[in-house]
Amino acid sequence: MNEKNPLWASESFWKKVAIWVTAGAFLLLVILTFDSLSQTQIGGQRVQSYSVINKKIDYVYQPDLHKSVPVIGETELLFGQEFSEEEAQKLVTLGKKTTQAKNCMNCHTLLGNGAYFAPDLTKAWLDKEWLSTDLRENLMVQFLLDPEKNARTFGSDRKMPNLHITPEEAKGVVAFLKWMSSIDTNGFPYHFKTINAKEE
Ligand code: HEC
Repeated sequence: MNEKNPLWASESFWKKVAIWVTAGAFLLLVILTFDSLSQTQIGGQRVQSYSVINKKIDYVYQPDLHKSVPVIGETELLFGQEFSEEEAQKLVTLGKKTTQAKNCMNCHTLLGNGAYFAPDLTKAWLDKEWLSTDLRENLMVQFLLDPEKNARTFGSDRKMPNLHITPEEAKGVVAFLKWMSSIDTNGFPYHFKTINAKEE
């Protein structure tokens, strides 16, 4: 090493810095990966297990957090049936696969991903356009089976085409949407007024 060079100008110093920074960043990446997994896996901190479809789900604004958070309430059966975790998983999975097979993301966003032609579906289960919590699940199935005849328009003149899904698939989609509405999405979508919100 050149005697006149200060430590910070030496090559070996920067090599060591590079190695330590890379090792530190790698360690941080591993820690953050495990942290994310603990939050996003089914039954984790932010994602409910599938049997949450047996419960009342709401999305309530918390002034101290400046965002809405999902609130899981008492029993509120879907299609009048209590689903075991396994049955719930089967139905939600059928719904999720239906949204993939029919490429709903071509028009909609799910958890913010997709296209902006039609409303975001993350909290569609809680949309106040379903009029009442008693009518909701049947109106949703009816709408999904024939969206042209049951157009609701959700504030636009756009209409959803008939995607020819079966009644069982429509039920699956409703279960999938109900489950998705229980995910803690860190306040997304913002300013969403739910079907349970009191009239102002
Ligand atoms: C070609 C575009 C298009 C595709 C593909 C599409 N939709 Fe839609 N969807 C719309 C439009 C437009 C609306 C709003 C108009 C209406 O409700 O009549 C809508 C509304 C909805 C709503 C009501 C939204 C709310 O806020 O409650 C649901 C639920 C829905 N779609 C589910 C689906 C599902 C599930 C699929 C895939 C199986 C799908 N859509 C595929 C265009 C589309």
